[in-house]
Amino acid sequence: MSKGSSQPSTAPHAADRGAWKSKFGFILAASGSAIGLGNLVFFASNAYQYGGGAFYLPYFIALFVLGIPVMILEFSAGTLTGRSFPMALRRLVGKRGEYVGWWSLSGALFITTYYVTILGWAMCMMVGALGGLFEPGATAPFAPFSEPSAGPNATAYFFGLIATWWPLLAVVAVWAMTIWSLWRGAETIEKVVRVCVPLMWVFMIVMIVRGVTLPGGMDGVLYLFTPDIAGILDVGVWKGAFAQMFFSLSLGLGTMTAYASYLPKDADHVNNSMLVSFMNCGFEYLAGFAIFAMLFAFSLNPVGGTLSLSFFAIPQGIAAFPFWVKAFGFAFFLLVVLAGLTSAISLVEGMASALIDKLGISRMKALAMVAVPGLVGSVLTALPFIVDPGLGGNGTFGLNLLDILDHWAFGYSLLTVGFLECILLGWVLGASRLREAINRHSKFHLGGWFDVLIKFVLPALLLAVIVLNLAVDLSNAFAGAPYGATNPLGWADWLPVVVPLVWLFGTLVLAYVLTNRRAAVELEPAPLAFED
Ligand code: TRP
Repeated sequence: MSKGSSQPSTAPHAADRGAWKSKFGFILAASGSAIGLGNLVFFASNAYQYGGGAFYLPYFIALFVLGIPVMILEFSAGTLTGRSFPMALRRLVGKRGEYVGWWSLSGALFITTYYVTILGWAMCMMVGALGGLFEPGATAPFAPFSEPSAGPNATAYFFGLIATWWPLLAVVAVWAMTIWSLWRGAETIEKVVRVCVPLMWVFMIVMIVRGVTLPGGMDGVLYLFTPDIAGILDVGVWKGAFAQMFFSLSLGLGTMTAYASYLPKDADHVNNSMLVSFMNCGFEYLAGFAIFAMLFAFSLNPVGGTLSLSFFAIPQGIAAFPFWVKAFGFAFFLLVVLAGLTSAISLVEGMASALIDKLGISRMKALAMVAVPGLVGSVLTALPFIVDPGLGGNGTFGLNLLDILDHWAFGYSLLTVGFLECILLGWVLGASRLREAINRHSKFHLGGWFDVLIKFVLPALLLAVIVLNLAVDLSNAFAGAPYGATNPLGWADWLPVVVPLVWLFGTLVLAYVLTNRRAAVELEPAPLAFED
């Protein structure tokens, strides 16, 4: 860790960049990054949106073909160079790589803004669990509800909540906690994950047992697992599965490269990638079990595309507990918050460490450069103005903005970066060179198939999914129905058009500016760590 003080014009020496105390600490931190809202919130809503049984096969394939290999790439890039994403790519493949790195991190900034907002909402629900969330006619501690429900109603509570100003306070709190955790670097991250990660597992298992033992609960699990062959032919499902896999494994936004840059050179990344991926996806399926079971048991009809079955289904399931309802509810949202926090920390670390590596600035300054625009974005996506009265709380400015931003940033950033990574590392650097460097320290040796995967299979798959989806999105847009415009937004009708443009040009400009900034210290061109 840098001391947060002066580090004038020399790039931080490897020893100052910080390091994990142990391999176990790294695995926990990486899995803490991977396990987050993606597992608890987005997986369920994606699986639901894409029809359950049609989703898991593409998702399963994505794990082996896409997830694990790309994680190996991102881990190795960090450890081989001892640098964060943009500078790691620059060292490996030159300036083009740095562009891709910064474009990726610019995307990360957009995604982090609304990631924190959702976390803020979860935090409010956590407080609400002790207040009115599990009471009939839910009211306190947040704004009064116009139509109090007869029984506990998490959905009504949630939409009532996001139409208040309270989430803004929560968003500030989440940013504060994130920055505070990063202040002390890898050391604190390690401490946090040592407690949170095992706890999350225990609680998840309790939730599944509760879910599947509810009458009708098994139907939900079956829905998730009954293959739906027709659905698999829909390219949208594949995009959903690929994007979800990238997001869930924290790939495509430089996070894993930053974390792996704090490892000693002899790290076994084949092993590490498999461990982290299996832990993450195992957790995700368990969460899926619990959420779908409760969804079916309570015949809930989830409203809102991206949004979280977990915000409604799980609380509803908890409300039906015979005892300790409030305590369980509080604990569940606490775990969502902790899981999300360890992920938000990793997202911010990816960006901050890249700024430190490039500009040679102090950790404090780098964190501020990320946190200030990040907080502005989080506040925007948390704004409670009702733009669609027909939808009530579901029609707030913040939620609509979040949904549209998520569609573009989540749907395209990650996959595009994945595609470019494969091209750069597979072709420019050379997959076999990289593979040799990886194999030098791995027990399980990657075969020639790895080169084929990185050079041909992955780029082709990713490109196909990106292009086909873009075609759908653009044809909708030109037909006058851009994504997010299905409901009249009143004065915010410009959102569906402006948001994707701001995202696209914003990230391109940021990438251009950062790449062309003079580095505090020019990187020594050679030798690369794996050539000595
Ligand atoms: N993987 C995390 C989740 O599932 C989110 C996350 C953290 C992430 N770092 C990332 C997603 C980097 C993409 C890239 O919630």
